[in-house]
Amino acid sequence: MFVLLLAACGTSVDSSGEPAGDSGTPSDAPVWYGDVEPIVGASCTGCHVEGGIGGFSLDSYDAAKPMAAAMASSVQAKKMPPWKADDGCREYRDDLSLSPEALQRIVDWAAAGALEGDAAKSIHLAAPVETLSRVDATLTLPVPYTPSTTRPDDYRCFLVDWPVDHDTYMTGYVIRPDQTSIVHHLVAYIAPPEQLAEFEGLDAQDEEPGWTCFGGPGIANQQDAEWLGAWAPGGTSGDFPDGTGIPMKTGSKVVLQMHYNTSNAAAVADQTTMDVMYDDDVDVPATIQPWADPDWLDGTGMEIPAATNGTEHEFSFTFPRGGFQIHNAALHMHQLGRTARLEVDHKDGTSDCLLAISDWDFNWQRTYTFTEPYDVQGGDALKVSCTWDNPGSEEVNWGEGTSDEMCLGTMLFSY
Ligand code: HEC
Repeated sequence: MFVLLLAACGTSVDSSGEPAGDSGTPSDAPVWYGDVEPIVGASCTGCHVEGGIGGFSLDSYDAAKPMAAAMASSVQAKKMPPWKADDGCREYRDDLSLSPEALQRIVDWAAAGALEGDAAKSIHLAAPVETLSRVDATLTLPVPYTPSTTRPDDYRCFLVDWPVDHDTYMTGYVIRPDQTSIVHHLVAYIAPPEQLAEFEGLDAQDEEPGWTCFGGPGIANQQDAEWLGAWAPGGTSGDFPDGTGIPMKTGSKVVLQMHYNTSNAAAVADQTTMDVMYDDDVDVPATIQPWADPDWLDGTGMEIPAATNGTEHEFSFTFPRGGFQIHNAALHMHQLGRTARLEVDHKDGTSDCLLAISDWDFNWQRTYTFTEPYDVQGGDALKVSCTWDNPGSEEVNWGEGTSDEMCLGTMLFSY
């Protein structure tokens, strides 16, 4: 039957030149159209399309066939798709993870010679690279900036205009790092009108474009600076959860904090951009809430001793009142991170997991958006916890450098 199918579409023989049926392929071997193409469409072509971040396309049979063996080994090794959230916490929007059956189907397809099947069953993959439903404006670093190489980590802040001059809400964004070999992260902060003079002063004092800034946008009480958005490697973003938006008051600007690291790549000029979408009305105003022990931030209290495995630190805070919602969650550590978790512990001893990553990979950090918002009750404690392996000969602690560590949750709260 299989041979007939192939004969009917007139193209496919496997790479050995023999019809697949002759090499003992079971007649139920999976084929591209109908079996593998829909899986690839759901889990891979968000990145593996022409011009996508995946670097090569998997959006057609001709593109995918030569990659079949690599596809099978990358899914078996759980390298691809890059979806690090453990199962069993919460349900997330745009879940890329493969079911065991889907994973096996890719593996079986490759093993049986990456057969094509019936093109009439094609779902015509053409995944949108664009992840924002509307781009209203693009924020851009004011000039291309070449990071300083006097030390490997260069933190640089730039003040950029916000495109509208009335009260509005940012309802989605996509950050497009320009030089991905050196851009380690970006945090966008709101620069409210009353702080503009301070930011402009910092910019004027520094001879280079922008100004140096650590741990925040560089002003006096920078711990209180409000986040507008963030990107770290592997990060994806897009429209905010339904009905939410971050308030931007008239006269506000945006500070883009770039973290460049040049320990493994040459310093080249970077001009990263951030596409934004905004609306004058939203159902619920929201704010991005970073979550970490304030005591960690001064570089003590999160000791990770030299030559140890599995050091754990956690921070928990109990809300006196509830009545607000959490819409998404992300976790951030650096290179030594092994596991990380955000959970809500209730007064009665039960708890809910918001996001757990048991196989931390610095290269894949993304925000996981809940399909349903999470309701926080009075008395609930929100806890972030992390574990690290430190094979080195130096104690490591909280810090902004790539060889320092962090244990940071971020969530979108609405009130
Ligand atoms: C979120 C974006 C993204 C998604 C989704 C994604 N990939 Fe990738 N993929 C990448 C990037 C970026 C690379 C190159 C860097 C790397 O290897 O980590 C890559 C590399 C690969 C490679 C090269 C070899 C390897 O293992 O590193 C293969 C094969 C691959 N992807 C297959 C897949 C398959 C199959 C899927 C779907 C099941 C998938 N990818 C989903 C981004 C993605």
